[in-house]
Amino acid sequence: MADRLIIFDTTLRDGEQSPGASMTREEKLRIARQLERLRVDVIEAGFAASSNGDFEAVKSIADHIKESTVCSLARANDRDISRAAEALKNAPRARIHTFIATSALHMEKKLRMSPEQVFEQAKLAVRFARNLCGDIEFSPEDGYRSDPDFLCRVLEAVINEGATTLNIPDTVGYAIPELYGEFIRNLRGRIPNADKAVWSVHCHNDLGMAVANSLAGVKIGGARQVECTINGLGERAGNCSLEEVVMAVKTRRDYFGLELGIDTSQIVAASRMVSQTTGFVVQPNKAVVGANAFAHASGIHQDGVLKARDTYEIMRAEDVGWTANKIVLGKLSGRNAFKQRLQELGIELESEGEINAAFARFKDLADRKSEIFDEDILALVSDESVTAEREHYRLLSLAQHSETGERPQAAVVFSAGDIEYRAESDGNGPVDASLKAIESKVQSGAELVLYSVNAITSGSTESQGEVTVRLQHGGRVVNGVGADPDIVVASAKAYLAALNKLHAKQERVAAQG
Ligand code: KIV
Ligand code: ZN
Repeated sequence: MADRLIIFDTTLRDGEQSPGASMTREEKLRIARQLERLRVDVIEAGFAASSNGDFEAVKSIADHIKESTVCSLARANDRDISRAAEALKNAPRARIHTFIATSALHMEKKLRMSPEQVFEQAKLAVRFARNLCGDIEFSPEDGYRSDPDFLCRVLEAVINEGATTLNIPDTVGYAIPELYGEFIRNLRGRIPNADKAVWSVHCHNDLGMAVANSLAGVKIGGARQVECTINGLGERAGNCSLEEVVMAVKTRRDYFGLELGIDTSQIVAASRMVSQTTGFVVQPNKAVVGANAFAHASGIHQDGVLKARDTYEIMRAEDVGWTANKIVLGKLSGRNAFKQRLQELGIELESEGEINAAFARFKDLADRKSEIFDEDILALVSDESVTAEREHYRLLSLAQHSETGERPQAAVVFSAGDIEYRAESDGNGPVDASLKAIESKVQSGAELVLYSVNAITSGSTESQGEVTVRLQHGGRVVNGVGADPDIVVASAKAYLAALNKLHAKQERVAAQG
């Protein structure tokens, strides 16, 4: 029987730390449910002590997820650890992940603590956590740039205090695969009680090597847990990508010889859900989940694939969940069929009111678009008009006029709380005019730092346009996503969605601040 490799997904914690990727409690729960369907071993649901919102999100995931272990991050202090334990109390399988920086640079400049103080605090934190939970992970932050002698002392001590997983983060993405693998092998070889814990890798992608480093940590270092995120989401250049690591271990089982619990057929659905929720678009040539990952454009390749698939294919598209776009519903589909399709897609809307709102949006879409795909339904439930009762700004209608040689004009009607606004503007194009019209009333002063449009389903101009708008204001960055067959309407929705996020108060402590 081969060893098992534990997949620890941190999309909802480290991934969410990416500027603009913050998610609501409902969005996080929806993604957690998809991660459970993907059968990840551990879901890091958030950092419970960082804000009330994060606490509620971790709690709600702990209350609903039954199959995967649910984990919360906590700094190495009693308050953070107690908050994590409190949020996790209903999880059938819970883990507390506590961390403290151990590199000379971080201890001196960030923590302003001596190595002895860090050593003591790490021990006390794990001892305290172990009294609250049987499954404790410890991370020496910036572990890869830490002095190995000091790291060995800390790690040996926290295992003695009851840590069950030791994670070695390459916090700044500085590692090189072979060196990182050897670093872990060396630690494991030197620590007398190393076999009392599972060793884990956590790599950031600053030099584009997060997946390679993680795999080297497994192969050379003997780690048996990989920390990763869907689509490699994460701060700066992101984290190790779950889909790449999983498919590397599965496709090259001959080399790694490891078992995985993952249901790989759920990978593409997870990728789409994360991308649609956060507005972080997946590049077309991204391995495994990019739109071109299995497209054989050149005539030679197509010919080869038609004659024998494995001439140019090392994985099967269907094994990671790429199915031909399916027409799932149409204009004549009723509320029950719609509700059932939502269930099949694993979407659980909170109230009958939300189902009704989603169904109304579906009918509206079906009137304008003859074929409704799963992707359309996912976009539709991500649409904020479905959860409108909780949203401040909401699009009511939009009219725009553009003509060659004329300056485009837009008139937008939207509500802000109970007040209805009608705003008009001209602009360089209809999108510019619409966003300027909204801004003329809202006066957010936010800077537009990203605008992108994508077709939700490929192959037809009938597809819905999915627009991402990223706004920056007062040190905060938020993404808004909007979908509609009319890309000007999608743009206005995306802009209002981003304004809603800016409007929602958010006080949060940074995990690595
Ligand atoms: O990158 C890092 O060091 C982290 C820790 C908090 C585990 O995310
Ligand atoms: Zn990290």
